[in-house]
Amino acid sequence: MSNAVLSLPLTLCSPLQAAREVAQEIADLIRERRAGGRMAVLCLPTGRTPLGVYEELVRMHRDEGLDFANVTTFNLDEFLGLAPEHPQSFRRYMRERFFAHVGLTPAQTWIPFGDVAPAQIEAHCREYEREIADAGGLDYALLGIGRNGHIGFNEPGATRESRTREVRLHEVTRADAAKAFGGLEFVPERAITMGVATILEARRIRVLAFGADKREIVRRTLEAPVGPQAPSTYLRGHADVRLFADEAALGR
Ligand code: F6R
Repeated sequence: MSNAVLSLPLTLCSPLQAAREVAQEIADLIRERRAGGRMAVLCLPTGRTPLGVYEELVRMHRDEGLDFANVTTFNLDEFLGLAPEHPQSFRRYMRERFFAHVGLTPAQTWIPFGDVAPAQIEAHCREYEREIADAGGLDYALLGIGRNGHIGFNEPGATRESRTREVRLHEVTRADAAKAFGGLEFVPERAITMGVATILEARRIRVLAFGADKREIVRRTLEAPVGPQAPSTYLRGHADVRLFADEAALGR
């Protein structure tokens, strides 16, 4: 298939509209799975971009009784070298921003361990893949995009076949995290990320990009040759993918 026909369906909308639409899709999936006596398996990101979705899901849990008892989640990534309680750990982010507010328990929520011993990292990554497979695969992957085109921490250079593994973080990723960590020297150099192949096997993928600082990478995601120089381009051609972007991110 040539790159030209690998499209990425696009919805131009505000961050609030995107949050509502995505949260509604997730709620519908959870309820449909419950009716069939099954779990809904979600793949989740951290960062600034998904916060509106988490807020809306928390609201639906509180106001509409959306029940997360039949939900399993797998996070995309975690910094290596951070204890679970570190203020910048993704485990803590997820608990404080989402899990604790919707009754999701540790047994339902998978995040790579940032403090896994170096000798155990490979086995830990293999186990993560196995747990996803045992859960029946990812039903719904929610993604942000890094300014360098990363999805999860699949940095430039990541292959389409990549699986959950240890990675070295790209300089743009570390620079973007520097403020939150109180300085570049405190940002970990390595991380564990779900692989590109793992993400692409999700049955549905929704990508969010908001703000002018995402304009250039949104353009490349939509138009650049599909390949490792911008891993977000691998999303093009997925059977059920959609990008929600605002005017600023689309340069309109
Ligand atoms: C985070 C993750 C990253 C972010 C991306 C965008 O778990 O997987 O790929 O989605 O870095 O981050 P924000 O949303 O902060 O711009």
